[in-house]
Order: sequence, then structure tokens, then C-alpha cells
Amino acid sequence: MNQEFKIPSHIAIVMDGNGRWARAKNRPRFMGHKKGVEAVREIVKTCFELNVECLSLFAFSSENWKRPEEEIKHLMGLFMLALDREAKALAKNNVQLKVVGDLSSFSEKLQAKIKQVEELTAQSTGLKLIVAANYGGRWDITQATQKLALKIESGEIKPDSISEEDITKSVTTAGIPDPDLFIRTGGEKRISNFLIWQMAYAELYFTDILWPDFNAEHLKTAIQDYSSRQRRFGKTSEQVMAAEGK
Ligand code: IPE
Ligand code: IPE
Ligand code: MG
Repeated sequence: MNQEFKIPSHIAIVMDGNGRWARAKNRPRFMGHKKGVEAVREIVKTCFELNVECLSLFAFSSENWKRPEEEIKHLMGLFMLALDREAKALAKNNVQLKVVGDLSSFSEKLQAKIKQVEELTAQSTGLKLIVAANYGGRWDITQATQKLALKIESGEIKPDSISEEDITKSVTTAGIPDPDLFIRTGGEKRISNFLIWQMAYAELYFTDILWPDFNAEHLKTAIQDYSSRQRRFGKTSEQVMAAEGK
């Protein structure tokens, strides 16, 4: 990839379209999820090759529990399998894994596996890989609010001292820069309760490609598109250009 392109520090992806991918091939939805894991592998590899600092992947939303039990079972099984198979490769490639979401709803076995892989990769200094599982942006803000309320109760902070920074430090992605580029595959143009607090100023990119078909080239196309945008953060074009010395 041409190094003139600006590489986003943090890319957040809603990996959508697995079910439709399978349906188009007359296969069960589960096959789409299975193929989706292969796409994850390729995208993670591309991100570490491009020196992306952080990649966040939406794997299972708080709302996905509404799906048929059979599909949920398959998804949990796949998650377990992928963690098991990829753990060593993640550590070897200096990738640090963090799973965010309300993990208490998962089986003890899955929770233990998550913890094990997080610990195995904790010392990695390369790509930070965030997997959002049983995650919802509103859940994240709610749990942050609870943490802050406890600090008020204990007298550690005062209500009117709560700042945006305090909330940023209390959501599950504390310490990680906000997403610069948000990608959603599968054609829908919505955020579906992903990192809603963190994405206040993310550049949004939507593609019709279904997640199992999304590959390194597609990712690079999204990065090129991102790279051509002017991020103004409320300023004028002229101010931004002057600051960039143009
Ligand atoms: C995304 O693909 C994977 C999960 C939500 C777990 P979908 O399963 O939502 O695929 P479509 O949207 O039905 O095609
Ligand atoms: C969003 O996809 C969640 C994940 C990719 C895990 P969905 O397929 O669940 O989103 P909606 O229901 O179309 O908004
Ligand atoms: Mg979907």
C-alpha cells in the first residue's frame, strides 16, 4: 500500500452479512459465521502489517441473544474454537487481545478461555485487538455510569466534577484512542449500538461486501477512502489546512 495514505490508529468494524452470504449459497447461516472467522484472520493480519494500533471487531451484540438458540450455540462454539486455535499465533505476532462486553452471560468455560488468551497476549506490544462480545454501546455507557456513581457514593468525586474524560476512562475501551475509521460490511447503514460513546468523531465507511468476502484489498480501499477525507473536528477547512502546513 502506498505509504502516502494515512493509516488510522484505530479501526472499528461491524462484521455484518454472514447470514446473507450463506443464504446466497444455499448453506446454513452457521457456514457464513465459519467463513467469517477466516475473514477475521485476514483482516487482523493486514492490520498488523499496516501498523494499525488498534482494531475493534463487533462479534456479538447485546441484542444478538434474540437470535434462534441454535445459532447462538454455534456462535459461542465458534468463538471458543477461534480463541483456542488462534491464541498462540496472536501471541507470536505480538497482538494483544482484549474482549469487551458483559462476559458474565457466557459459560464459565468460555469466560476462562477468554481470560487465558488475554493473559497469554497481555505482554504484546503490537496490534491491540478488541473483540466486542455481548457488547452494546448503551451497556458500556451504563456500566461506566455505575462506576462513577460508586465513586460519588464513596466521596471520591463530586457529581459536578464528572468530565467527558472521566466517562472516557470508565468505558471498557479506557486507554485506547477513539476509533478513527468505522467500517460496516453487509450493506446496512447503521451503527447497531457499537462503540457509540467512542465513535463521536469517527469517519464512517459502509460497503455492500458481505463480511465473509471482505479481504485485505477491501480494507485498503476503505483506508484510502478514509485517507482522502478532511477531518475538521468542528474547525474550518482553512484552519485545518493551515495547521497541516498546506
Ligand atoms: C454478522 O452477520 C454476525 C453476527 C451478528 C454475529 P449476520 O449473522 O448478522 O448476517 P446477516 O446480517 O444476517 O446477513
Ligand atoms: C451487528 O450486526 C452486530 C454484529 C456484527 C455482531 P447485526 O446483524 O446484529 O445488526 P442489525 O440487527 O442488523 O442492526
Ligand atoms: Mg446482520
